[in-house]
Amino acid sequence: MRMILVGPPGAGKGTQAAKLVDTFKIPHISSGDMLRAAVKEGTALGIQADTFMKAGQLVPDDVVIGMILERIAKPDCAHGFMLDGFPRTRPQAEALDESMHKAGVALEAVVLIEVPDAPIVERITGRVSDPDTGTIYHLKFNPPPADVAGRVVQRKDDTVEAVTTRLAKYHSETAPIVPFYESKGILKRVDGIGNPADVTKRITTALGK
Ligand code: AP5
Ligand code: MG
Repeated sequence: MRMILVGPPGAGKGTQAAKLVDTFKIPHISSGDMLRAAVKEGTALGIQADTFMKAGQLVPDDVVIGMILERIAKPDCAHGFMLDGFPRTRPQAEALDESMHKAGVALEAVVLIEVPDAPIVERITGRVSDPDTGTIYHLKFNPPPADVAGRVVQRKDDTVEAVTTRLAKYHSETAPIVPFYESKGILKRVDGIGNPADVTKRITTALGK
Protein backbone atom coordinates (compact mmCIF):
# COMPACT_ATOMS: atom_id res chain seq x y z
CA MET A 1 0.00 0.00 0.00
CA ARG A 2 1.37 3.39 -1.05
CA MET A 3 -0.60 6.07 0.71
CA ILE A 4 -0.62 9.61 2.09
CA LEU A 5 -2.20 11.09 5.21
CA VAL A 6 -3.24 14.72 4.71
CA GLY A 7 -4.86 17.11 7.16
CA PRO A 8 -4.38 20.35 9.05
CA PRO A 9 -1.92 20.64 11.95
CA GLY A 10 -3.32 18.62 14.83
CA ALA A 11 -5.68 16.61 12.62
CA GLY A 12 -4.20 13.43 14.10
CA LYS A 13 -1.92 12.34 11.24
CA GLY A 14 0.87 11.20 13.58
CA THR A 15 -1.56 9.63 16.06
CA GLN A 16 -3.35 7.68 13.31
CA ALA A 17 -0.15 6.67 11.48
CA ALA A 18 1.16 5.04 14.67
CA LYS A 19 -2.00 2.88 14.79
CA LEU A 20 -2.18 2.15 11.05
CA VAL A 21 1.37 0.96 10.40
CA ASP A 22 0.68 -2.26 12.31
CA THR A 23 -2.31 -3.03 10.09
CA PHE A 24 -0.59 -2.18 6.82
CA LYS A 25 3.00 -3.21 7.72
CA ILE A 26 4.53 -0.25 5.89
CA PRO A 27 6.95 2.42 7.13
CA HIS A 28 5.52 5.67 8.49
CA ILE A 29 7.38 8.54 6.88
CA SER A 30 6.72 11.88 8.55
CA SER A 31 8.41 14.86 6.89
CA GLY A 32 8.00 16.82 10.15
CA ASP A 33 9.70 14.07 12.21
CA MET A 34 12.54 13.84 9.67
CA LEU A 35 13.05 17.61 9.74
CA ARG A 36 12.95 17.72 13.56
CA ALA A 37 15.59 14.94 13.67
CA ALA A 38 17.78 16.96 11.26
CA VAL A 39 17.39 20.07 13.45
CA LYS A 40 18.37 18.05 16.53
CA GLU A 41 21.41 16.59 14.78
CA GLY A 42 22.41 20.03 13.52
CA THR A 43 22.84 18.90 9.89
CA ALA A 44 23.00 21.50 7.09
CA LEU A 45 19.40 20.62 6.21
CA GLY A 46 18.34 20.98 9.84
CA ILE A 47 19.99 24.38 10.20
CA GLN A 48 18.19 25.55 7.06
CA ALA A 49 14.81 24.18 8.21
CA ASP A 50 14.88 25.37 11.84
CA THR A 51 13.91 29.02 11.35
CA PHE A 52 11.01 28.16 9.05
CA MET A 53 9.67 25.49 11.39
CA LYS A 54 9.81 27.58 14.57
CA ALA A 55 7.78 30.29 12.84
CA GLY A 56 5.24 27.80 11.47
CA GLN A 57 6.32 28.55 7.89
CA LEU A 58 6.83 25.85 5.28
CA VAL A 59 10.38 24.68 4.59
CA PRO A 60 11.24 25.41 0.91
CA ASP A 61 10.00 22.80 -1.59
CA ASP A 62 13.42 21.89 -3.02
CA VAL A 63 14.74 20.94 0.45
CA VAL A 64 11.75 18.78 1.39
CA ILE A 65 11.23 17.16 -2.03
CA GLY A 66 14.84 15.90 -2.16
CA MET A 67 14.63 14.58 1.40
CA ILE A 68 11.41 12.60 0.83
CA LEU A 69 12.17 11.24 -2.65
CA GLU A 70 15.47 9.92 -1.31
CA ARG A 71 13.69 8.33 1.65
CA ILE A 72 11.01 6.50 -0.35
CA ALA A 73 13.68 5.09 -2.68
CA LYS A 74 15.08 3.07 0.25
CA PRO A 75 14.51 -0.73 0.27
CA ASP A 76 12.04 -0.69 3.19
CA CYS A 77 9.62 1.29 0.97
CA ALA A 78 9.72 -1.23 -1.90
CA HIS A 79 6.26 -2.56 -1.03
CA GLY A 80 4.69 0.61 0.27
CA PHE A 81 4.83 3.59 2.59
CA MET A 82 2.61 5.91 4.58
CA LEU A 83 3.55 9.53 4.00
CA ASP A 84 2.53 12.03 6.70
CA GLY A 85 3.04 15.77 6.13
CA PHE A 86 4.23 15.38 2.54
CA PRO A 87 3.19 16.52 -0.01
CA ARG A 88 2.11 19.85 1.38
CA THR A 89 2.18 22.05 -1.72
CA ARG A 90 1.15 21.56 -5.32
CA PRO A 91 4.81 21.43 -6.55
CA GLN A 92 5.53 18.73 -3.93
CA ALA A 93 2.51 16.68 -5.12
CA GLU A 94 3.64 17.00 -8.74
CA ALA A 95 7.24 16.02 -7.90
CA LEU A 96 6.02 12.92 -6.04
CA ASP A 97 3.74 12.02 -8.95
CA GLU A 98 6.55 12.33 -11.47
CA SER A 99 8.99 10.32 -9.35
CA MET A 100 6.49 7.50 -8.75
CA HIS A 101 5.56 7.45 -12.43
CA LYS A 102 9.25 7.06 -13.35
CA ALA A 103 9.59 4.24 -10.81
CA GLY A 104 6.55 2.51 -12.35
CA VAL A 105 4.53 2.56 -9.12
CA ALA A 106 1.24 4.24 -8.22
CA LEU A 107 -0.37 5.86 -5.20
CA GLU A 108 -3.33 3.86 -3.97
CA ALA A 109 -4.94 6.25 -1.50
CA VAL A 110 -4.82 9.75 -0.07
CA VAL A 111 -6.64 9.97 3.26
CA LEU A 112 -7.79 13.47 4.19
CA ILE A 113 -8.42 13.70 7.95
CA GLU A 114 -10.94 16.52 8.24
CA VAL A 115 -10.94 18.67 11.40
CA PRO A 116 -12.31 22.22 11.46
CA ASP A 117 -10.08 25.07 12.70
CA ALA A 118 -11.86 25.54 16.05
CA PRO A 119 -10.50 22.50 17.99
CA ILE A 120 -7.00 22.71 16.47
CA VAL A 121 -5.42 25.23 18.86
CA GLU A 122 -6.47 23.22 21.92
CA ARG A 123 -5.16 19.99 20.38
CA ILE A 124 -1.82 21.58 19.45
CA THR A 125 -1.11 23.52 22.62
CA GLY A 126 -1.91 20.46 24.78
CA ARG A 127 0.26 18.07 22.79
CA VAL A 128 3.30 16.48 24.44
CA SER A 129 5.40 13.50 23.37
CA ASP A 130 7.71 10.96 24.88
CA PRO A 131 11.27 11.77 23.69
CA ASP A 132 12.29 8.12 24.21
CA THR A 133 9.58 6.45 22.09
CA GLY A 134 8.04 9.32 20.07
CA THR A 135 4.57 8.40 21.39
CA ILE A 136 2.17 11.36 21.09
CA TYR A 137 -0.04 12.35 24.04
CA HIS A 138 -2.39 15.20 24.94
CA LEU A 139 -2.40 16.65 28.45
CA LYS A 140 -6.24 16.63 28.54
CA PHE A 141 -7.44 14.15 25.88
CA ASN A 142 -4.80 11.43 26.21
CA PRO A 143 -2.56 12.11 29.25
CA PRO A 144 0.81 10.35 29.46
CA PRO A 145 1.07 7.53 32.06
CA ALA A 146 2.74 8.41 35.39
CA ASP A 147 6.09 6.80 34.46
CA VAL A 148 6.29 8.87 31.25
CA ALA A 149 4.79 12.17 32.49
CA GLY A 150 8.08 13.39 33.98
CA ARG A 151 10.00 13.29 30.70
CA VAL A 152 7.47 14.49 28.08
CA VAL A 153 8.47 17.35 25.79
CA GLN A 154 6.59 19.98 23.80
CA ARG A 155 7.36 20.94 20.18
CA LYS A 156 8.88 24.40 19.60
CA ASP A 157 6.21 25.19 16.99
CA ASP A 158 3.28 24.26 19.26
CA THR A 159 2.63 27.85 20.33
CA VAL A 160 -0.63 29.71 19.64
CA GLU A 161 1.29 32.09 17.37
CA ALA A 162 2.99 29.40 15.26
CA VAL A 163 -0.14 27.27 14.98
CA THR A 164 -2.07 30.26 13.62
CA THR A 165 0.55 30.57 10.85
CA ARG A 166 0.57 26.78 10.27
CA LEU A 167 -3.22 26.76 9.87
CA ALA A 168 -3.11 29.68 7.42
CA LYS A 169 -0.39 27.88 5.42
CA TYR A 170 -2.48 24.71 5.42
CA HIS A 171 -5.43 26.53 3.87
CA SER A 172 -3.39 28.50 1.32
CA GLU A 173 -0.73 25.92 0.29
CA THR A 174 -1.86 22.42 1.26
CA ALA A 175 -5.64 22.43 0.74
CA PRO A 176 -5.07 22.98 -3.04
CA ILE A 177 -3.53 19.47 -3.32
CA VAL A 178 -6.92 17.95 -2.36
CA PRO A 179 -8.58 18.53 -5.78
CA PHE A 180 -5.38 17.22 -7.45
CA TYR A 181 -5.91 13.82 -5.78
CA GLU A 182 -9.71 13.98 -6.00
CA SER A 183 -9.42 14.21 -9.79
CA LYS A 184 -7.32 11.00 -9.73
CA GLY A 185 -10.13 9.21 -7.87
CA ILE A 186 -7.96 8.17 -4.89
CA LEU A 187 -9.05 10.71 -2.25
CA LYS A 188 -10.80 9.36 0.88
CA ARG A 189 -12.32 11.93 3.24
CA VAL A 190 -12.48 10.89 6.90
CA ASP A 191 -14.04 12.77 9.82
CA GLY A 192 -11.22 13.42 12.33
CA ILE A 193 -13.47 14.40 15.23
CA GLY A 194 -14.15 11.90 18.01
CA ASN A 195 -12.26 9.19 19.79
CA PRO A 196 -8.91 8.40 18.03
CA ALA A 197 -9.85 4.67 17.91
CA ASP A 198 -13.08 5.55 16.06
CA VAL A 199 -11.09 7.69 13.59
CA THR A 200 -8.77 4.70 12.98
CA LYS A 201 -11.82 2.52 12.21
CA ARG A 202 -13.12 5.13 9.75
CA ILE A 203 -9.75 5.17 7.98
CA THR A 204 -9.40 1.38 7.72
CA THR A 205 -13.00 1.16 6.45
CA ALA A 206 -12.31 3.88 3.85
CA LEU A 207 -9.26 1.87 2.77
CA GLY A 208 -11.31 -1.32 2.51
CA LYS A 209 -9.55 -3.16 5.35
P1 AP5 B 1 4.46 18.43 10.85
O1 AP5 B 1 5.26 17.76 11.89
O2 AP5 B 1 4.03 17.68 9.66
O3 AP5 B 1 3.25 19.16 11.57
P2 AP5 B 1 1.71 19.44 11.15
O4 AP5 B 1 1.29 19.09 9.77
O5 AP5 B 1 1.47 20.83 11.58
O6 AP5 B 1 0.93 18.39 11.93
P3 AP5 B 1 1.11 18.00 13.41
O7 AP5 B 1 2.24 17.01 13.53
O8 AP5 B 1 1.15 19.22 14.25
O9 AP5 B 1 -0.29 17.30 13.70
P4 AP5 B 1 -0.78 15.82 13.46
O10 AP5 B 1 -1.84 15.85 12.41
O11 AP5 B 1 0.34 14.85 13.27
O12 AP5 B 1 -1.51 15.57 14.85
P5 AP5 B 1 -1.12 14.62 16.11
O13 AP5 B 1 -1.45 13.21 15.79
O14 AP5 B 1 0.23 14.92 16.61
O15 AP5 B 1 5.29 19.71 10.29
C1 AP5 B 1 5.90 20.61 11.17
C2 AP5 B 1 6.64 21.68 10.38
O16 AP5 B 1 7.68 21.06 9.58
C3 AP5 B 1 5.81 22.48 9.38
O17 AP5 B 1 5.13 23.57 9.97
C4 AP5 B 1 6.89 22.92 8.37
O18 AP5 B 1 7.65 23.99 8.88
C5 AP5 B 1 7.79 21.70 8.30
N1 AP5 B 1 7.37 20.74 7.27
C6 AP5 B 1 6.98 19.44 7.47
N2 AP5 B 1 6.67 18.85 6.30
C7 AP5 B 1 6.85 19.80 5.34
C8 AP5 B 1 6.66 19.81 3.94
N3 AP5 B 1 6.20 18.72 3.28
N4 AP5 B 1 6.93 20.97 3.26
C9 AP5 B 1 7.39 22.07 3.89
N5 AP5 B 1 7.58 22.13 5.24
C10 AP5 B 1 7.30 21.00 5.95
O19 AP5 B 1 -2.22 15.15 17.14
C11 AP5 B 1 -2.16 16.45 17.68
C12 AP5 B 1 -2.66 16.45 19.13
O20 AP5 B 1 -4.06 16.14 19.13
C13 AP5 B 1 -1.98 15.39 20.02
O21 AP5 B 1 -1.83 15.91 21.31
C14 AP5 B 1 -2.97 14.22 20.00
O22 AP5 B 1 -2.89 13.46 21.21
C15 AP5 B 1 -4.31 14.95 19.88
N6 AP5 B 1 -5.30 14.19 19.13
C16 AP5 B 1 -5.08 13.37 18.06
N7 AP5 B 1 -6.24 12.83 17.63
C17 AP5 B 1 -7.20 13.32 18.45
C18 AP5 B 1 -8.62 13.14 18.52
N8 AP5 B 1 -9.27 12.34 17.65
N9 AP5 B 1 -9.30 13.82 19.48
C19 AP5 B 1 -8.64 14.63 20.36
N10 AP5 B 1 -7.30 14.83 20.36
C20 AP5 B 1 -6.60 14.19 19.41
MG1 MG C 1 2.44 15.05 13.13
